[in-house]
Amino acid sequence: MAKTKTTFFCNNCGSQYAKWIGKCTSCNEWNTIAEEIVQKEEKRAWKQTISTKKVSKALKIANIVLNEEDRIQTLNNEFDRVLGGGLVKGSVLLLGGEPGIGKSTLLLQIALSINKKVLYVSGEESQSQIKMRAERLSSINSDCLILTETKTQNIFRSIEEINPEILVIDSIQTLHTENIDASPGTISQIRETTAELIKFAKETNTPVILIGHITKDGHIAGPKILEHMVDVVLQFEGDRNHTYRIVRAQKNRFGSTSELGIYEMQSVGLREVDNPSEILISQKDESLSGTAIAATLEGMRPLMIEVQALVSTAVYGTPQRSATGYDLKRLNMLLAVLEKRAGFRLGAKDVFLNITGGIKVDDPAIDLAVISAILSSNEDDAIPEDYCFAAEIGLAGEIRPVNKIEQRLLEAEKLGFKKVFVSKFNKFSKKNYSIKIVLVSKVEEVFNELFS
Ligand code: TYD
Ligand code: MG
Repeated sequence: MAKTKTTFFCNNCGSQYAKWIGKCTSCNEWNTIAEEIVQKEEKRAWKQTISTKKVSKALKIANIVLNEEDRIQTLNNEFDRVLGGGLVKGSVLLLGGEPGIGKSTLLLQIALSINKKVLYVSGEESQSQIKMRAERLSSINSDCLILTETKTQNIFRSIEEINPEILVIDSIQTLHTENIDASPGTISQIRETTAELIKFAKETNTPVILIGHITKDGHIAGPKILEHMVDVVLQFEGDRNHTYRIVRAQKNRFGSTSELGIYEMQSVGLREVDNPSEILISQKDESLSGTAIAATLEGMRPLMIEVQALVSTAVYGTPQRSATGYDLKRLNMLLAVLEKRAGFRLGAKDVFLNITGGIKVDDPAIDLAVISAILSSNEDDAIPEDYCFAAEIGLAGEIRPVNKIEQRLLEAEKLGFKKVFVSKFNKFSKKNYSIKIVLVSKVEEVFNELFS
């Protein structure tokens, strides 16, 4: 008889406790500790015997050969870009995102367009539902097999029969293994089923893609350790009310985490957006006050992003400040800089800031565009549409240089901008560009150039 054991897990962060407590001491959430039965059995899921026979040998690093074929191109350029050039064989990838954002659509689309044998295991939808979805996406890969199953042992049985080159699991929270008694979606089930799949991936050199649900505060549901166990963690984000979707790498053992993949959700699936700047700038007939365009950089890719600001007299005592797609603390800091260093009286004004397209920007080079949009709205004077900005603002009100300025200038020039504002301290050769470059070192200089 196998021994039955119970432990307590925090549903929020996955910490384990020997007894029940009211507040998780690691994430400080109340009432998230739940008891789970953990039953250990001798037999393991993915051929335990193989790994005990195979003992890995230490090799000199110089003698380890790298194969070009170790990466599989998914033929989805945006996805490959985020992965750093394709799926690495034997790697385990976790794709997280809000419900309805398009995780299943993206992976089914990849499964249908790649020329490899793919096994798509769904624990969420029936085979006919997946077929219906596949019909909307035009491409069909005859080597894509759909399995609706939630028990890992049965999945492994099918794998032995089918021998897929890529395995997709939709979603990890629906799987369960016989080795543990807890119900699907619990911390211990998620951890155990992921461990089995990782073992499968490493032993057969098959890439495994897992879809993961996220909790209400945006973390992947399950133990935090899940993110440590897998090789790549991708986040599928975007506003469900906007059609644009962004895939961002949170962790990537085989590439950079600063690359972005941008998609547009259409009625026929996700379209890759290779020229994001055009979609991130809203189309309008006339120049409106309160908008400014920033030349930002996401990963290696330059993006022209539109910032919109609305400054109005506060109706209530305390002025409101709100920001969408931009850090609110940073907005408050920029407002304080404008007030204290440049003498603009914004203390009694409501300030609303919005980055168009539902995109979230971390690049500090957007600061100057944020300030310019705020000033433009405050003055009710539009900034010409063919002006753009690329500089960071310091606490002393100084305009600071940004990295990779050449790439930003080239993109601005390519898209037909006529004038760009950059820091005086950025080092580059002005001669190489036909776009008019305005070098500035203080906010007042920008103000005078724009509005006087
Ligand atoms: P889905 O992939 O089911 O989301 P997730 O797996 O992340 O929960 O995406 C569902 C949404 O996408 C749904 O609201 C409908 C929309 N959609 C389209 O707009 N076009 C399409 O071609 C498809 C397949 C879905
Ligand atoms: Mg889904």
